[in-house]
Amino acid sequence: MKITIYIATSANGSISNSRNVPDWLSDEYGSGMMEICNRYRAVIMGRTTYDIIAPDYLPFSTDGIMKVMSRQKDLKAANAAVHFTSEAPREIVSSLELHGYSQAVIIGGTQTMSAFFQEGLVDDIYLVVEPVFFGRGLPLFEQVEFESKLNLLEFKKLNSNTTLLHYEVRK
Ligand SMILES: NC(=O)c1ccc[n+]([C@@H]2O[C@H](COP(=O)([O-])OP(=O)(O)OC[C@H]3O[C@@H](n4cnc5c(N)ncnc54)[C@H](OP(=O)(O)O)[C@@H]3O)[C@@H](O)[C@H]2O)c1
Repeated sequence: MKITIYIATSANGSISNSRNVPDWLSDEYGSGMMEICNRYRAVIMGRTTYDIIAPDYLPFSTDGIMKVMSRQKDLKAANAAVHFTSEAPREIVSSLELHGYSQAVIIGGTQTMSAFFQEGLVDDIYLVVEPVFFGRGLPLFEQVEFESKLNLLEFKKLNSNTTLLHYEVRK
């Protein structure tokens, strides 16, 4: 299974600011996220990210699956495509494969991306680099030991200030 990360960062690599207000994200980031989720039809996110985007900004409600990582029981799904899971990353991959998916996109946040990256499960990553520095913020990864070299597959200017970088993770 191909696992892709799609995420926006500040120019110094944070995925959120200390205010935790997403007013720095471009429209191009938002439309790109919707586009890749709708193309892959299998989406993975952490429960904190889910709480921010559900129910209004979930990418779809049918014809696909959104695996939301959580250790909590009895969470109420916002729509039929949402599946809460306490499975480990490898089990999530196996379960998606059993459902016939050959690719999935992770849309955040730090804990979820770190868990998949540490297991060596990530194949490529789209970084939407927004024109802002955060002195304090959440890093792309945390509390994980790894070093990954990357191949640059594509870079593109999305608007006058925002850049898209697409990297393949060298295996
Ligand atoms: N810049 C961007 O593109 C972007 C995109 C998405 C999110 N964000 C930002 O990222 C932040 C959220 O990131 P985050 O790292 O705090 O949270 P997260 O990864 O979205 O979610 C963390 C939660 O996921 C569950 N979880 C994580 N690892 C798990 C595991 N191995 N097994 C079972 N459940 C697991 C836990 O849920 P329970 O507590 O329910 O057990 C945990 O509290 C927000 O500030 C958001 O704004 C930024």
